[in-house]
Amino acid sequence: MRALDIIRAKRDGRVLTRGEIDAFVAGVTDGSWPDYQVSALLMAILLRGMTLDEATHLTHSMIGSGVRLDWSDIQGSFAGGVAVDKHSTGGVGDKTSLILAPLAAACGALVPMMSGRGLGHTGGTLDKLAAIPGFRTDLSLAEMRTALVATGCVLIRQTADVAPADRRLYALRDATATVESLPLISSSILSKKVTEGIGALVMDVKVGSGGFMARVDDARELARWLVGIATRSGVRTEAFLTRMDTPLGRTVGNANEVHEAIATLKGQGPADLESLSVHLAARMLVMAGAAGEHDAEEQIRNALTSGRGLQKFADILSAQGGDPRVIDDPSLMPMADHERMIPAPRSGFVSKLDAGAVGHAAVVLGAGRDHVDGIIDPGVGIDVLAPEGTEVREGDAVLRVIYRDAARRDAALARLTTAVDISDAAPAPRPLILETIRAQEQP
Ligand code: URA
Repeated sequence: MRALDIIRAKRDGRVLTRGEIDAFVAGVTDGSWPDYQVSALLMAILLRGMTLDEATHLTHSMIGSGVRLDWSDIQGSFAGGVAVDKHSTGGVGDKTSLILAPLAAACGALVPMMSGRGLGHTGGTLDKLAAIPGFRTDLSLAEMRTALVATGCVLIRQTADVAPADRRLYALRDATATVESLPLISSSILSKKVTEGIGALVMDVKVGSGGFMARVDDARELARWLVGIATRSGVRTEAFLTRMDTPLGRTVGNANEVHEAIATLKGQGPADLESLSVHLAARMLVMAGAAGEHDAEEQIRNALTSGRGLQKFADILSAQGGDPRVIDDPSLMPMADHERMIPAPRSGFVSKLDAGAVGHAAVVLGAGRDHVDGIIDPGVGIDVLAPEGTEVREGDAVLRVIYRDAARRDAALARLTTAVDISDAAPAPRPLILETIRAQEQP
């Protein structure tokens, strides 16, 4: 099957056969398709689109380019009998994985969570975990299985043999302005998630300046593709559109986010972070069949208030070589020792605290990376002292910038000049969860 014929077929708007999609993915994986032919097909897909069947098959083919994990020998001992995960399209201050994974595991679920590094202004779970002394995310398959049997949850990195086709495709999409295709985004995300051997999935599709999609309509469309493909792949899936125009919780960075996640597991977290984490964890239980519609949230709340979620987090730390003393002593994590407050320019109510601006400022400080080889400083970041809706007086601190390097601080401050708006009247409270997308709503 010639690459040229497959490119021509999609260029002319034809639906690709399974054989053609498999030939494409094989050519991407073994290198027999040169960059220019892969890129040409990617552009044809962007312009001509794909059917749900094509995108589902592309996802399967990409999964088949690497290993697929299988928990069938152990999952029967866990609640619901299938492994379950949550995936977020990425946000600013989004540390829910660190909270909901132990909460769901504390309720008996099996959670083999594989995460990626952050890129751009959205943080990555792996980078946050790297702030914990000793914590290993590079477990071998055998170590992963041992840890899962012991605790029901692992928090690890995607290994090189997870959907290797996606790595080459993503790099080429990035360089050829073809990232934005919904079937390509969905197959990229799901090829890495379905590989975890899960039978259930909850998707958090962020909407707003700090997310991957700025507009609700676009996020809804993406959520429909994700739910459609995952469901056709045998993974029971539900997606939530959640607001990401202001940071989630009160911290943006790495060590400070881990600290806040631990505080939330102690019942001392901010309301927005706690409620979203509890909701998503409860939906994980429902999707996995580990709890009913009516008692899932109660089970998760019990795990939170009883301290079982926190204990599970400690067990996960120990199983993966991390120092569980960070739970009582966050100073064991690196923390930069300079700070600069951003004051309210006038008295009133904080009516805007822009997630995109805060996320970009955090990257400039060194809390994120703007290219794949960027080095993260886990001890820098931004704390939100006056979240949206807070009444402030002129000069009150709204943000705390935690930094090591004055030049980076100044660059971050420049990013923050338009991040905060103050209004005379209190802004109307807005819901955090905007919509739920279920399996019947196909793209
Ligand atoms: N995240 C991914 O993993 N892939 C995409 O294409 C976009 C976001």
